[in-house]
Amino acid sequence: MGCMLHFLTSLFLLGSLRHPLTQCTVQGSEFQLEGDYLIGGLFDIHHVSAPVYHGRPETTECSSQHFLLPNYRRFQLMRFSVEEINNSTNLLPKISLGFEIFDHCSDTQNYPGIFNLISVNGLIQPWNEPQKQQTNNTDVSKVIAVVGPFTSTQALTIAPLFMTDLIPMVSYGSSSSFFSRKAKFPSFLRTVHPNKDVIEVIVSMMVHFHWRWVAFLHSDNDFGNDGLEMFTRRIKDTEICLPYTTGLGYSTNYPQIFKHIEALRINVIIVFAPKINAEALIMSAIQLNVTQKVWIADDGWSLNKRLPKEKGIENIGTVLGVSQPVVSIPGFSDFIYSARSQTHCKNAEKNTFCNQFFNCSILSAEEILAGDPSFSFSVYSAVHAIAHALHNTLQCGADHCNRNITVYPYMVLAEMKKSNFTLLNQSIKFDENGDPKYGPFSIVFWNNSGDAEEIGFYHFHPSVNFFINNTKIKWGKNGEVPSSFCTPECPKGHARKQNGIHKCCFTCEICPNGTFINTTDPYNCMNCKDTEWSTEGSTSCNLRSVEYIPFTDIGAILIIAGSWALVVLSIAMSVLFAINYNTPVVRSAGGPMCFLILGCLSLCSLSVFFYFGKPTTSSCILRSLPFILFYTVCLACFVVRSFQIVCIFKMAAKFPKLYSWWMKYQGQWLIITVAFVTQAFLLGIAHLSAPPKPYNETVWSQEKIILSCDTKFEAFSGSAFVLVFLCFLCFIFSYMGKNLPKNYNEAKSITFCLLLLILTWIIFATVQVLYKGKYIQTLNALAVLSSLYSFLLWYFFPKCYIMMFQPHKNTQQYFQGLIQNYTKTISQ
Ligand SMILES: *[C@@H]1O[C@H](CO)[C@@H](O)[C@H](O)[C@H]1NC(C)=O
Ligand SMILES: *[C@@H]1O[C@H](CO)[C@@H](O)[C@H](O)[C@H]1NC(C)=O
Ligand SMILES: *[C@@H]1O[C@H](CO)[C@@H](O)[C@H](O)[C@H]1NC(C)=O
Ligand SMILES: *[C@@H]1O[C@H](CO)[C@@H](O)[C@H](O)[C@H]1NC(C)=O
Ligand SMILES: *[C@@H]1O[C@H](CO)[C@@H](O)[C@H](O)[C@H]1NC(C)=O
Ligand SMILES: *[C@@H]1O[C@H](CO)[C@@H](O)[C@H](O)[C@H]1NC(C)=O
Ligand SMILES: *[C@@H]1O[C@H](CO)[C@@H](O)[C@H](O)[C@H]1NC(C)=O
Ligand SMILES: *[C@@H]1O[C@H](CO)[C@@H](O)[C@H](O)[C@H]1NC(C)=O
Ligand SMILES: *[C@@H]1O[C@H](CO)[C@@H](O)[C@H](O)[C@H]1NC(C)=O
Ligand SMILES: *[C@@H]1O[C@H](CO)[C@@H](O)[C@H](O)[C@H]1NC(C)=O
Ligand SMILES: *[C@@H]1O[C@H](CO)[C@@H](O)[C@H](O)[C@H]1NC(C)=O
Ligand SMILES: *[C@@H]1O[C@H](CO)[C@@H](O)[C@H](O)[C@H]1NC(C)=O
Repeated sequence: MGCMLHFLTSLFLLGSLRHPLTQCTVQGSEFQLEGDYLIGGLFDIHHVSAPVYHGRPETTECSSQHFLLPNYRRFQLMRFSVEEINNSTNLLPKISLGFEIFDHCSDTQNYPGIFNLISVNGLIQPWNEPQKQQTNNTDVSKVIAVVGPFTSTQALTIAPLFMTDLIPMVSYGSSSSFFSRKAKFPSFLRTVHPNKDVIEVIVSMMVHFHWRWVAFLHSDNDFGNDGLEMFTRRIKDTEICLPYTTGLGYSTNYPQIFKHIEALRINVIIVFAPKINAEALIMSAIQLNVTQKVWIADDGWSLNKRLPKEKGIENIGTVLGVSQPVVSIPGFSDFIYSARSQTHCKNAEKNTFCNQFFNCSILSAEEILAGDPSFSFSVYSAVHAIAHALHNTLQCGADHCNRNITVYPYMVLAEMKKSNFTLLNQSIKFDENGDPKYGPFSIVFWNNSGDAEEIGFYHFHPSVNFFINNTKIKWGKNGEVPSSFCTPECPKGHARKQNGIHKCCFTCEICPNGTFINTTDPYNCMNCKDTEWSTEGSTSCNLRSVEYIPFTDIGAILIIAGSWALVVLSIAMSVLFAINYNTPVVRSAGGPMCFLILGCLSLCSLSVFFYFGKPTTSSCILRSLPFILFYTVCLACFVVRSFQIVCIFKMAAKFPKLYSWWMKYQGQWLIITVAFVTQAFLLGIAHLSAPPKPYNETVWSQEKIILSCDTKFEAFSGSAFVLVFLCFLCFIFSYMGKNLPKNYNEAKSITFCLLLLILTWIIFATVQVLYKGKYIQTLNALAVLSSLYSFLLWYFFPKCYIMMFQPHKNTQQYFQGLIQNYTKTISQ
């Protein structure tokens, strides 16, 4: 880099430019002030409005270019600031501060001024260690820092020349985000917010007014392209779409832009461009009769003085803008008035080379003060930040500074990064990227009287605070906030289905039941949780009610009472049977087997208790296990009993061997035991492979969760088969014995009981197919209980009745009489 600079230096400075440079240090020029230390300044008082083709090398002559009043005002502000500091007794006491300012009118071709700033004694030398015993300061640059330049492109082209020697470059207008990268721009600081912040304010406005379909017109340069990049990045996760964007330059086809915007039905146009582009755009909008739009201005033109007063501006719609807050700088107008009355204009010779000329007699003080006040505070704070840094570098006290210290720009830079001082009530600080940590934005509205009226603000520090006073804005003709969208908002409970590439263009589809949609993701219906439900087109889910039969339920109480009654009745009957143990009724009922049956029935009734309350794994197991197991025993008893009634005599006659075997090995008990063991084995396998588990029934009713037990039918099919098989056997045997004598009517009552049993479970199964509500538990318990009662009431109860109230029927003689009658009728 050093060699490169050397080369450039000899090329430009020592060549043809050397001579004019020395010539133009005219005393009394507005562009120069002598001082112990100098601050460089770069202001585009004029601006090259169109690129010019040169056939031979030529320096740009700024004074003949397009004049920019706002920038001239900023230039005056720098002069004022330096003078104010020079006059001040607190800041840099007894040190005089001067400046060297250049008109920087071209974005890319303004090197003479820059070389002047970085050269010492007409030479640009790469940085070398200062000699130790230095007595003479003449080889140290007096320029300790540079204020400017304004635009990002200008800053980008010249920044490397200042970065190499770490000369602080404090820009008051270059807002492109790449200057925040300190690795590339180590000595670059700025007193203007980076584009990201302006875009943040603009996006906040879009969100505030619900504008989602916008055009972004930007200047076709580093500043504008960076703005576009920031904007597209910022709106990525918002509802805002950018259907149209284009760069504005020297040869923009405005009619075509507006034709596109009209065709896309865009009502909100963001114009992110400096004064020159913005003025051209708005003027052509007026000319082309563009109407009813909302224009969003960035801080480059929101405080424009000329456009709001333009004839026909009211037709183009509403102009809102993000602006720098207008800070009135005390003493500035006095300075301008007194400067006008002085006469250094007349001394200024028109100099065609060095760009330090402005014919100030063409402007009055009023005209200067009426210029766009944007960036004033930026310039003011930039100069003050440099002065404070110098103040600290020189270790200044209350009334003197240490003049022995040789000040190099990098020292000033180090102090600037630590800046912490108060200026016009604002606390001036820089963040680690050299971006300002102060300063809000104002939101302005161009009102009917042609002024930019402040209607809101956006504060970044200490915390984000955004406010717009809507009542201050007068919207177009009907006074309503204009809308800008591709598709209007979906009705509540509808999901968007994107059409094409823009997320703003969509059709609306209602969300089906069981799903909901809210503002966090308007494109997808989200499923409700299992514990929730919703109707069609919902924006939220309702909690499902959890249902089960508590012990306090009236049905539960009745059924539990029923099962207690069953137990009590069983015990009572057992006692009664025990008392009448040797009577024929008891013997015909099965004798000892009766106690087994009654005991099993009581044990079965255990199951009933577990149908109520919240299901748990154990209660689910206990719902079925005791019932199936002991009911198997009961059924086996009845099978044996009916077998004995019907077949035992025939067996004795036809198969005497089998009969004796049966009698010898207590065949009845054997069969009962086999049935019990088989069932116990099957249940054991079933519970090991697929134990019943609590289960939340969510399908049957969408508003409720029904707590029930999940029993795998496959696992329990073996047990069920045993039960059905026993039933079947029992039914066959008892049916065969339906014609037996009356005292042997056990067979009949068993048949009847079985019919009842089958009927009960058929009814239950039918209901369960149709109804899965909570009362299915009650019904299930009822079915169990009725299975138990059917035996108790139709098998045991008649026998108890005979024992208690018809003892004459409970005698041997009565039984024999009946049997004889029976044999008679059979033999007839
Ligand atoms: C600086 O002081 C001079 C003389 O005292 C005065 O004329 C001038 O207005 C002052 N300038 C500022 C900016 O205060
Ligand atoms: C301001 O600077 C000028 C030129 O260097 C000097 O003559 C003058 O005394 C300074 N004013 C103050 C108040 O220090
Ligand atoms: C100091 O500067 C003077 C004049 O500019 C020069 O003659 C002298 O040689 C310098 N001294 C040193 C030590 O550089
Ligand atoms: C704009 O409107 C004016 C008057 O209404 C009309 O004279 C002019 O031709 C229009 N211009 C365009 C480009 O439509
Ligand atoms: C400055 O402008 C005035 C008025 O326009 C003119 O008379 C004068 O000659 C100009 N001076 C120079 C040096 O161009
Ligand atoms: C500055 O240097 C001079 C001579 O070298 C010395 O007399 C004086 O004390 C120094 N001042 C300070 C503040 O160091
Ligand atoms: C800045 O200065 C103020 C008062 O002058 C002080 O309270 C504050 O701590 C300083 N902040 C930093 C970061 O140095
Ligand atoms: C600074 O703030 C104080 C009180 O907060 C106020 O009185 C004063 O007017 C403010 N000064 C400026 C220049 O805003
Ligand atoms: C426009 O704004 C200015 C500045 O805020 C204000 O003085 C003026 O009254 C406003 N005009 C209208 C018509 O509201
Ligand atoms: C908003 O502006 C209206 C009219 O200009 C004013 O009356 C009102 O007080 C303002 N509201 C707020 C919150 O500043
Ligand atoms: C919910 O949707 C299902 C299937 O889409 C339908 O069968 C059911 O009837 C719906 N329920 C209600 C309450 O709309
Ligand atoms: C939208 O739903 C999600 C997921 O349930 C939830 O986290 C979020 O808070 C909801 N947002 C609103 C605004 O209701």
